[in-house]
Amino acid sequence: MLATCRAPDGQGQIHAQCDAALVWKGGEILWTGPDAALPAETSSLETSGDAENRLVIPGLIDCHTHLAFGGWREDEFEQRIRGISYQEIAARGGGILRTVSATRSASDEELSARCLKWLAEMAALGVTTVEVKSGYGLTVEQELRILRIYARLKQKQPVRIVSTLLAAHALPQKFLGNRAGYIRQVAQNLIPEVARQKLAQFCDAFVEDGAFTADEARTVLQAGMDCGLRPKLHADQLSDSGGAALAAELGCISADHLDCVSEDGIRRLARSGTVAVSLPLASLYLGRPPAPARSLIDHGVPVAVATDFNPGTAPSFHLPLAMLLACTLQKMTPCEALKGATLYAARAIGEEERCGSLEPGKRADFVIIDAPSVNHWIYHFMANRPVATFIAGKRVEAADRGE
Ligand code: NIG
Ligand code: FE
Repeated sequence: MLATCRAPDGQGQIHAQCDAALVWKGGEILWTGPDAALPAETSSLETSGDAENRLVIPGLIDCHTHLAFGGWREDEFEQRIRGISYQEIAARGGGILRTVSATRSASDEELSARCLKWLAEMAALGVTTVEVKSGYGLTVEQELRILRIYARLKQKQPVRIVSTLLAAHALPQKFLGNRAGYIRQVAQNLIPEVARQKLAQFCDAFVEDGAFTADEARTVLQAGMDCGLRPKLHADQLSDSGGAALAAELGCISADHLDCVSEDGIRRLARSGTVAVSLPLASLYLGRPPAPARSLIDHGVPVAVATDFNPGTAPSFHLPLAMLLACTLQKMTPCEALKGATLYAARAIGEEERCGSLEPGKRADFVIIDAPSVNHWIYHFMANRPVATFIAGKRVEAADRGE
């Protein structure tokens, strides 16, 4: 079965075809349709094989990760199980700032080697494009360093990488008592430099009690837009802090998390065309109710599903697991979750013209999965069901996967 995940008809419509063929050349899809209707001119092309009644889907897109970080925080995982909150742990010196220290003291080589290994493991899970955020550097130099590591990763391995500047992730220690000074540094020094060096396509900010206010985020995202960086937002994750309204006001390409989004916020997102990125692994790890995906979809908001991979709230990059949670915890159907991890995820990172569905003209990024249908794949959950991942028409080999 070939699930094309084409755009029309909304979140639940994946436009699946049985006995279908996929034709590609030079890394680009030429044709998809019923096997019996294969155009004559394709007969001169080499055939790459038969998927033998397996499921073929577009390459999965993880549209929200914090990939480059030093260290881990498994002790905080236990502390939260024992009832200490995420915010309390941060106030005691843990949380994001602890990872900032570990990241600053890791070498470029160490950070890069970790990212390479994880990207290879993601590819084995069917992921072909990943959005990667900075945000554990929090100085001009360190944020640029992380984005440069991402830029080099693009040359070193096949998974596509889209970079986002998230300097407004937490207030660095050095600026305690001088919030405005940090915002100024980000807006006036860092953002223009990131844009000049073309190190990121997007600018993101974390609006939350203990992080940044909506006004601070507006200043940062506006500075980003002035330099050509499209805005994204960590919105309404732990409380309703007006994140969705700000995302809609600025025309953000995506509003991410949204666990605490209000009814009014949902309506505003629907009007602005912003993609809601649901991150159910983070909700699961924090033991909190996830974003109201059903209500978002019913109001006409496209909902993408991603992992949020980071050492605090989502220490897993298993996108199919996030899709399972979207189904069980958020009442998305498996087909809705698939469209959320393909076409709508592509839309959330401005890549819809290039990937996210199996259509002529798009990159031949696809995955063969050992399951007879989308429902069966997600329902009979196994750690690793893809039998092959193709990026731009080339099979990702075990060697690329670091095995
Ligand atoms: O998306 N919300 C802010 N940032 C991350 C968590 C980062 C961390 O705890 O290290 C998130 O959940
Ligand atoms: Fe995040």
